[in-house]
Amino acid sequence: MNILGINAYHGNASAALVCDGKLVAAVEEERFNRVKYAAGFPAAAIDYCLKEAGLTLADVDHVAVPRNPYARLATKLLYAVRMPSFARERLRVLSKFTAIPAALAQTLDFDPGKIKATFHRVEHHQAHLASTFFVSPFEHAAMLSADGLGDFASTMWGTGRGSRMEIDGVIAFPHSLGLYYSAVTQYLGFLKFGDEYKVMGLAAYGQPEHLDAFRDIVRFHENGSEFGFRLGLDYFTHHRTGPEMTWAESDKTPVLGKMFSEAMAKRLGGLSRQPEEPLEQRHRNLAASLQARLEEVYLGMLRKLAAITQTKAVCLAGGVAFNCVANGKIFDQTPFQEVYVHPAAGDGGLAVGAAFYIWHQVLGKPRLFVMDHAYWGPGYASEEIRAAIDSSGISKGGYGIAKLPDGELMKRTAAIIADGKILGWYQGRAEWGPRALGNRSIVADPRRPEMKEILNRRIKHREIFRPFAPSILAEKAGEWFERSYPSPFMTLAYPVRPEKRDKIPAPTHVDGTGRLQTVTAEANPRYHALISEFERQTGVPVVLNTSFNDNEPIVCRPEEALDCFLRAQMDALVLGNYLITRL
Ligand SMILES: [Fe+2]
Repeated sequence: MNILGINAYHGNASAALVCDGKLVAAVEEERFNRVKYAAGFPAAAIDYCLKEAGLTLADVDHVAVPRNPYARLATKLLYAVRMPSFARERLRVLSKFTAIPAALAQTLDFDPGKIKATFHRVEHHQAHLASTFFVSPFEHAAMLSADGLGDFASTMWGTGRGSRMEIDGVIAFPHSLGLYYSAVTQYLGFLKFGDEYKVMGLAAYGQPEHLDAFRDIVRFHENGSEFGFRLGLDYFTHHRTGPEMTWAESDKTPVLGKMFSEAMAKRLGGLSRQPEEPLEQRHRNLAASLQARLEEVYLGMLRKLAAITQTKAVCLAGGVAFNCVANGKIFDQTPFQEVYVHPAAGDGGLAVGAAFYIWHQVLGKPRLFVMDHAYWGPGYASEEIRAAIDSSGISKGGYGIAKLPDGELMKRTAAIIADGKILGWYQGRAEWGPRALGNRSIVADPRRPEMKEILNRRIKHREIFRPFAPSILAEKAGEWFERSYPSPFMTLAYPVRPEKRDKIPAPTHVDGTGRLQTVTAEANPRYHALISEFERQTGVPVVLNTSFNDNEPIVCRPEEALDCFLRAQMDALVLGNYLITRL
């Protein structure tokens, strides 16, 4: 049985294919159309998933779309009456969704008469919850989804048991931890969609001096088994301007409208920062306070959830679940002892969640799959890599090109990293989700404090305060970090052991933490072999890992890797077994 999940007409448009209960492929449209967070119809992603499985649309039994226009209909109607522009936008979106079967046939150039699939709508947050619990290793777990907004809710929690999940609570629009974070991110002068990461990085440089103000901006409440939060709405504008304004038309990066009010500016001590203005300590302290309040509410909800569900395991999804700093504190500040975060915790992951929701919750099928690695995207054969090298122009001179057996490849590549060079590392199938996890990565020496500045200046062109991440052999994590609980998808940040901090300064953040990826030989044998060889040569089982891109979606095809390598003037590039060096 083949189930196609499609996240369409929404940020992070994506597709996923589940065949007989097991994920076969999953990818975001941005990797093909090269538009970050692309929000259109994911035609290329769907096409890729079907090809990966050797199927056509005629073989698809179910199509799952993670959006249900009938969820929280009464609240939606209330806002539609208050805001006619919002009502028009809803109608436009609804008409697009009813046209998904036609869009499928048209974009894939397929006879609509041959599509036999049943179409399903899955509510947004139930798809998030399904994306994490149903692919987790847990038989019984608490679940929490928290994001900006989806199907008019921002937060949902429940209990997963076997192939069933039950919803225990929901927080509806306009109250939202994701929108809270986005609004303050805007206030601090970071206006682009997805800039919340930057502010999380900035928070480590400040002190939470404004926590009282933020406790007023987000109010947590609990009463027995009841709990939740509310926004101080005076500080926001999104409940007045309309939530759907956040999505731009067509295949473009989404755009956010202004979300904070004058009351927020006043409460936080004055005018908002303009993007070109310098960052002052006040901004760092505000970022720290924003993050501290998020942690209080997020961890407060998790403590309540642990008490209610009486389980030691929790599954997380939704954009807020990318807050690796908050996630890293779960073990110390809640009773949970096991944590699973879906690697595409944002809305890209909805495609996987919707598909598994159909398999388990609708069809009642048993659990047959655990997502223990993230390599579900496109991969390219050695001949395709060779053809890309030949057509790139580098074979004309100026570069050394060698095809090496694994052992020699690892030895020479590890030596290049240890020598302080910047390496593009391109292997196998692309990662699912926004993190590069050793298949589409730029790798560098973590021992060199200057490496952060070199990477920022030469390759990444990003703010100096943003941290880089470490990849560590999973079996060595406890020796270098204060926790060893697996973080295979870079969704947890732990303190680096104090005595190790000056040994890996480049990926250690200013507060002494690292957003680590724990690498096992099972999940990624080649990346594990590379780090093992680096350890043999240097004594350090860690490399610095950042995504293989330069202000664009992560490279997908070998041609894009070569292009980025040349453009960014990296020192060396490994594509499969090919080692390319500048002469
Ligand atoms: Fe979402």
